[in-house]
Amino acid sequence: MSGTDHELKTVFVKTYGCQMNVYDSERMTDALATSGYAAVDSPESADLILLNTCHIREKAAEKVYSEIGRLRRIKEEAAESGRAVVIGIAGCVAQAEGEEIVRRAPVVDLVVGPQSYQRLPELVARAAHGRVVETEFAVAEKFAALDRPAASRPGRHAAFLTVQEGCDKFCAFCVVPYTRGAESSRPIASIAAEARRLAAEGVREVTLLGQNVNAFHGEGPDGDAWTLGRLLFHLAEIPGLDRLRYTTSHPRDMDDTLIAAHRDLDALMPYLHLPVQSGSDRVLAAMNRKHTRDDYLRIIDKVRDARAGMAIAGDFIVGFPGEEEADFEDTLRIVDEVGYASAFSFKYSPRPGTPAAGRDQVPEPVMAERLARLQERIAAAQAAFNASRVGMTAEVLFERPGRHAGQIVGRSPWLSPVQVSADAALIGSIARVALTDVGSNSLFGRVVGKAGADRPVVEATA
Ligand code: 5AD
Ligand code: SF4
Repeated sequence: MSGTDHELKTVFVKTYGCQMNVYDSERMTDALATSGYAAVDSPESADLILLNTCHIREKAAEKVYSEIGRLRRIKEEAAESGRAVVIGIAGCVAQAEGEEIVRRAPVVDLVVGPQSYQRLPELVARAAHGRVVETEFAVAEKFAALDRPAASRPGRHAAFLTVQEGCDKFCAFCVVPYTRGAESSRPIASIAAEARRLAAEGVREVTLLGQNVNAFHGEGPDGDAWTLGRLLFHLAEIPGLDRLRYTTSHPRDMDDTLIAAHRDLDALMPYLHLPVQSGSDRVLAAMNRKHTRDDYLRIIDKVRDARAGMAIAGDFIVGFPGEEEADFEDTLRIVDEVGYASAFSFKYSPRPGTPAAGRDQVPEPVMAERLARLQERIAAAQAAFNASRVGMTAEVLFERPGRHAGQIVGRSPWLSPVQVSADAALIGSIARVALTDVGSNSLFGRVVGKAGADRPVVEATA
């Protein structure tokens, strides 16, 4: 790269995949700001282009290579006008494929795994002089770097906060234990400090992130390992943080303190994303989920007993190796039994290095047909859930203007979008909304008052 370190340089980051990548991308931009990089929103005007990638399914990983093809042209055009552009691949594809990326795409200058972003300024400087591949698992170092205050992002009312990374569960389909490494938790003091900074910035809602967030076991100020439930009780004390959420959880880690948090904390939203993946015991065993269909249903009952009106969200995989029609029908049945508020569903995608990748695969047309049937069932469950909210009054955090003039959009306690006609001055605040109607994905309502500690987050309208 030409020029000195003091010259203003620009970075463009494109994010794929999960919310953890969204959080990481912000922190990458912050780390690079310290060495003079300003963020821009198009790759054409950037000196450094970073792709923060996802490896969870084949399609996600392949997108990266087609994007690299586009970036190659941008880099070549810049070179013709005498400007050097550095291309970096970050995230889970970087971790999983490492050197292989530069073999397949020599235009890439830098490969950096998710645990090494704190070293980006130094790695980028080195990449200007020759290829750099960095895929160490330095999670403690990464967490320590998160103690540096993030850049403030005005106008933001809901934010993510990473509390845990990695996974020790080794589900037979999943690359996460390989790309993000072993389960590791941030210390409580570090998380609480970041939460307080966010609240001071005007953020009203924080979503705690982790690949296996309810396996959280961060070190508390007392030296003990705290559970996620205990962390939530602690964060609920922070003035201004009105809403807490967490994602994503494993059924085996839904412990009693977490369920008590749902029972006792008004600030903890009545929403739980608890993937089950399949409704068949045979498939769950083959997936190495270490729980049965009945275990899962009993956990859902417990959570619903603790907090009425909970929205349950899920993830499903169809066509896992060995899945028969009868197994798939068990999955359809569990959708009805749980009454999901929303769910993501995917065709099984064999991931290199995972146990299930070498097993006999279900044919593609069978997977496609099952996915369509499952999605129809999920859409019906979601519509029923939304319809059941009409007539209630619920608190809504307004986040942005709507598509039509005079409209603003926020999130219900159950995470569904809520649209109302109201003054844009309400954006950033929480108001009580009488829910009057339901659209395909969102709810409609009218503002009936301010949120107050004396009223519950959700009420049946009299
Ligand atoms: N194929 C398809 N879906 C997968 N998921 C994870 N690994 C795979 C795979 N190999 C899904 C799971 C998980 C979500 C994040 O992605 O449903 O919960
Ligand atoms: Fe992957 Fe989640 Fe299973 Fe961990 S618990 S291996 S992240 S699906």
